[in-house]
Amino acid sequence: MRRIVLAEPEKGGLAATWSDGTTSFWPAIWLRDQCACPQCRHPNGQRLFEIGDLPEHPEIDRVTTQADSTVRVVWKEEGHVSTYSALFLYENNLKPRRPASIKLWGADLAELPEADWLWVARNPAAELAWLEAYHLHGFALLRNVPVRPGMVAEVGDRIGFVRTTNYGRLFDVISEPDPNNLAYTALGLGVHSDNPYRDPTPGVQLLHCLVCEAPGGDSILVDGLAAAEQLRAEAPEQFELLARVPASFRFADKNADLQARRPLISIDIEGEITAIHFNNRSFAGIDGPVELVEPWYAAYRTFARMLKEPARQLVFRLAPGDLLVMQNERALHGRTAFDANLGRRHLQGCYVDKDGLESRLRILRRQIAESQQAAE
Ligand code: OGA
Ligand code: ZN
Ligand code: ZN
Repeated sequence: MRRIVLAEPEKGGLAATWSDGTTSFWPAIWLRDQCACPQCRHPNGQRLFEIGDLPEHPEIDRVTTQADSTVRVVWKEEGHVSTYSALFLYENNLKPRRPASIKLWGADLAELPEADWLWVARNPAAELAWLEAYHLHGFALLRNVPVRPGMVAEVGDRIGFVRTTNYGRLFDVISEPDPNNLAYTALGLGVHSDNPYRDPTPGVQLLHCLVCEAPGGDSILVDGLAAAEQLRAEAPEQFELLARVPASFRFADKNADLQARRPLISIDIEGEITAIHFNNRSFAGIDGPVELVEPWYAAYRTFARMLKEPARQLVFRLAPGDLLVMQNERALHGRTAFDANLGRRHLQGCYVDKDGLESRLRILRRQIAESQQAAE
């Protein structure tokens, strides 16, 4: 961990110099709002004051840095005292940053991120390692998941909370007569995010292979984030169009009429890509300004072409007992066509919200860090 070698009030806030020579700055209002003293926070960590209770322009009276790098700020306001650990300040460095724990990949990804379910289910360290690999790549496989209908939702409830939809708590991906979705045919499916017509779109998708006897039906995965970065680098105006003009998605059958409107590429205020929504089957059109329609379609075509590049497509075959977990708004999935006359194929799928899984990941990180500290 870096130490703080110097912390001092600077116009409008606190400036710090770290032991590696880098500097940080926190505006006074941000810092005052983060005060964790017993007057400001309940023991459970929740805030006891409201924004209107704070001075609009808090002023720092003096700053001292303790031996362990804890920074103590005395405010002019009634001599209020706040302390901030170096770790807190480090983790809340306000500079723009890309999450470091992301690895972009393509067809040449050497090893699939995977783990044995029997091991993961019993061992928190193994579960954490698997979830970290999932987080890094936007997908990961579990092997040896019991080949039992319903198991996909059991795994879903273990890594998060299964979200029930109009397809039920889970759905069967099987070739059937009179299908309400092309997924329930033997046709190949181009890579896509599932259900962009929902709001919110499912954050996590699980697919569990129960039977895989039919020839064909191989799985395809593409890193949508990597493809969108390629689009940004090679055709910035087209990237901009896909990030700005909302597209509509729709799914309608006898019992449901689901619609949502969102850009194909979502970016945050710093321009970082936060989500990809791409689904040829349920794309309903755009209703942006008429002069943007042609250029938008040109951009859509370019992006679709990039997603189809063989160098992007990771192709592998799920075997019974394999369960694929994907960040639905990053790792786009598809399949090759299969021949349902020559054998059966049966997957079960379900959706889990992203927040539950991310929470599980943080809890495991915390538990494991605590047990390591206890062992030291
Ligand atoms: C789906 C889907 C892939 C497959 O059901 O959403 O994409 O391999 N299925 O059948
Ligand atoms: Zn306080
Ligand atoms: Zn799908």
